[in-house]
Amino acid sequence: MVGRNDLCWCGSGKKYKRCHITQDQTTGFIPPKPRNPLIKTAEEIEQMRRAGAFNGQLMEYIRDYVKPGVSTESINKRVHEYTLDHGHIPATLNYHGFPKSCCISRNSVVCHGIPRIDEFLAEGDIVNVDLTTIVDGFFGDQSETFILGQVSPAAMQLVEVTAIATEAAIKAVGPGKRLSIVGDTVDPIIKAAGFSVVRSYTGHGIGRQFHENITVLHHKNRENHEILLEPGMTFTIEPMINAGSFGVVTDKNDGWTVWTRDKSLSAQFEHTILITETGREILTLTPSQRKSGQIITVNYIR
Ligand code: MF3
Ligand code: CO
Ligand code: CO
Repeated sequence: MVGRNDLCWCGSGKKYKRCHITQDQTTGFIPPKPRNPLIKTAEEIEQMRRAGAFNGQLMEYIRDYVKPGVSTESINKRVHEYTLDHGHIPATLNYHGFPKSCCISRNSVVCHGIPRIDEFLAEGDIVNVDLTTIVDGFFGDQSETFILGQVSPAAMQLVEVTAIATEAAIKAVGPGKRLSIVGDTVDPIIKAAGFSVVRSYTGHGIGRQFHENITVLHHKNRENHEILLEPGMTFTIEPMINAGSFGVVTDKNDGWTVWTRDKSLSAQFEHTILITETGREILTLTPSQRKSGQIITVNYIR
């Protein structure tokens, strides 16, 4: 129902009581409930499921090709071709001018690493592969961090704690909860390990657009306390965790690559989430995650 003091349903911009209320009372017209743009319709949710499922399938496909010795561009090329071969669109390609079909962020790169023909993965690296695709107009977005061979104990702990915090945050969200439960969950896990949560890059609403109107903060904050989670909302959870301080800098040469300011290591996992009547659905599970019930996969590659 439209309340007396709500904006009138007709779009006049006037309060309902100053506009159509009298006319509606005489004619018995019941104005339609105004649509909350943050809440997807049943049809849109079905499309989001399809987009997420394809994105998860792509992640599972690419896992075999992330290993020491390969160039980051060779991974990008496979992502690009697999996406096109299935009739879909790589979302990052030309997104605000981003030049590649995925982001690959190694070691002290926080996010938005550009795949390169002259950048080779090596034993000892931790590397995040972030995949985003458009399936019939709807976006799926997810990332995983890979541990290549023997890495330092600190690097190993960073990736594992990031996975634990991401999983805990995903399990914490649900209808009736405040979005701030994400930061409230991630922050103490990360602080206890002596690491820090990046503040200047966030999760986001997602749907027919890559970045929709919901900003998901992964550190403790007040802003997200104002957002009540309701069934039909879709957004990403994607904490970026630095081994050192949370500060970041953008590469002046390429304008994209985000580095930790102190050049410490950084790790991340990401899923696209739907709030349901009873909890949450992870839209971007990979086929093996669907089978095993595992929701975050740390890839240990030898
Ligand atoms: N996939 C990233 C995210 O999770 C965004 C990449 S945008 C790009 O939001 F332009 F850098 F590709
Ligand atoms: Co995202
Ligand atoms: Co992403």
